[in-house]
This record gives sequence, structure tokens and C-alpha cells, in this order.
Amino acid sequence: MSIKDIQLDPNRIPKHVAIIMDGNGRWAQKKGELRIFGHTNGVDSVREALTAAVEIGVQYLTLYAFSTENWNRPQQEIAALMDLLVQSIYNEIDELNNKGVKLETIGDVEILPKSCQNALVDAKKKTKDNQKITLILALSYSSRREISHAIQKMTKEVVDGNLKSEAINEDLISSYLSTANYPDPELLIRTSGENRVSNFLMWQLAYTELYFTKILWPDFKKKNFYKAIFDYQKRERRFGKTSQQILDNNV
Ligand code: FPP
Repeated sequence: MSIKDIQLDPNRIPKHVAIIMDGNGRWAQKKGELRIFGHTNGVDSVREALTAAVEIGVQYLTLYAFSTENWNRPQQEIAALMDLLVQSIYNEIDELNNKGVKLETIGDVEILPKSCQNALVDAKKKTKDNQKITLILALSYSSRREISHAIQKMTKEVVDGNLKSEAINEDLISSYLSTANYPDPELLIRTSGENRVSNFLMWQLAYTELYFTKILWPDFKKKNFYKAIFDYQKRERRFGKTSQQILDNNV
């Protein structure tokens, strides 16, 4: 299927797409290269996915760039990944502004190396007024940790008498997460043939459509992003209702 054959319905573009960019290491190893070569090439795929998302009007794109568990990787790989992140931010900042991209982050950003934090603070400041799309980088992110923090904050407020325990409901919990300002993703893409959620946005993914592809992240191009959206558009999102109810509501 070529990119021209992919006819998307402009009325059913997901507002928020989340991606687990997986397979960089395997892609590099297949080519007899070091793992970081895969991450470096993965940046091109980030650009492709972002460009495609902007073109079709996706409003939020969340990328799982570094998980809490990734801190267990060899020091050399972690350092190279952090350098790559800093370099990519500086290289791409003008292009992000040209495209109208607002950069934000979720995760424990304060434990990233200082150079990384500085680059992020700078890029967030420079892009804060952009409105075309919000690019959310999940860095040192863990969904269970995020939920634990939210519970800690709510508990403290209850103990201090500023929150009634009866007031804790789904909306309130969502508002205590780092994603409070974003709608839940309608679509999650994971590359490289792994069919897992891996501690990513577990609360937010409750009703999200999951799309798994065997393609390794550095091979994931605009066409592949469109294909994932096309696949999403073929699905019926019922949120627990029957097909008939969905049809009745649409007429
Ligand atoms: C997973 O592949 C990928 C990562 C842990 C890092 C993703 C980072 C980038 C694509 C580059 C930097 C990002 C931005 C936003 C500029 P893996 O290493 O787990 O691959 P494997 O499963 O084949 O080992």
C-alpha cells in the first residue's frame, strides 16, 4: 500500500496519539552496528511521525522516549541517549517552531542530566505559544510511579483536610496525573512486534485502541503512521455500548 492509497477520514482523526518507539537496538544489531546507531536513526522516525501527525491534524503526540526502567541499561547507552536527546532538541528547535509544535514532558525530568534539563527548559520556553500540536516526551516515565504520586498527593490533601475522600472519582484522579491537561489517547502505536503496554499511560489507556506493528522504530515512516490511523478509523469504538446504540447515536 503506497501513501497515496491511504484515504483518511478527516472527521475521524484521533486528537491524541501515543507511541512506544521500540526496536532501535535490534535494528542496529541487524546491521552489525552499536545500539546507539539505532537510536540516532530513530530520531528520523520521530520527525516523520511528528510531521505526519501535524499534516493530518493530530493535536497531541506523546512519545515514550525513556522509561524509568531504561535507567537499568548500560551507562554508556544511557549517556549516549541523553546526548542524543540534547542534540536533537537543539537541532530541531527551529523546525519545531516552524511546524507550530509546543514541547512538553511527562516523567521525572528532574533526575535527567543537567544538560538535558536545560535543553528541555529552553525548548519548552521557546515553543510555549505554539498551537498546532503538543509534542509530549515521556522521559524517565513510569505509569505506576505517576499513579503512586497522585495517590500520595490526594492522601496528603485528605489528611490536611483540604479534600474529602468521597470527592475522589475518576475525573479527580485524572487531574492529579501529569497528563491532566491532555485528553486520553485514542490510539497507542507500539513498534517492533512487542505486544505490551510496558508501564506507559496505564490509567489513560483504559479505552485506547492498541495498534501493534512488527516494524522496528527506525523503519517507521510517515506511511506507517498513516496506516496506523487508517486501521484505527476502521475500528468501532463502543466504550461498552452495543453496535446498535452507537449507530442510533450517529443518525
Ligand atoms: C526503544 O528501543 C527506544 C528507546 C529506549 C529510546 C527511544 C529514543 C529515540 C527514538 C531517540 C530520541 C528521542 C527523541 C524524542 C529525540 P530499544 O533500544 O528498546 O530497542 P530494542 O528493543 O531493539 O533493544
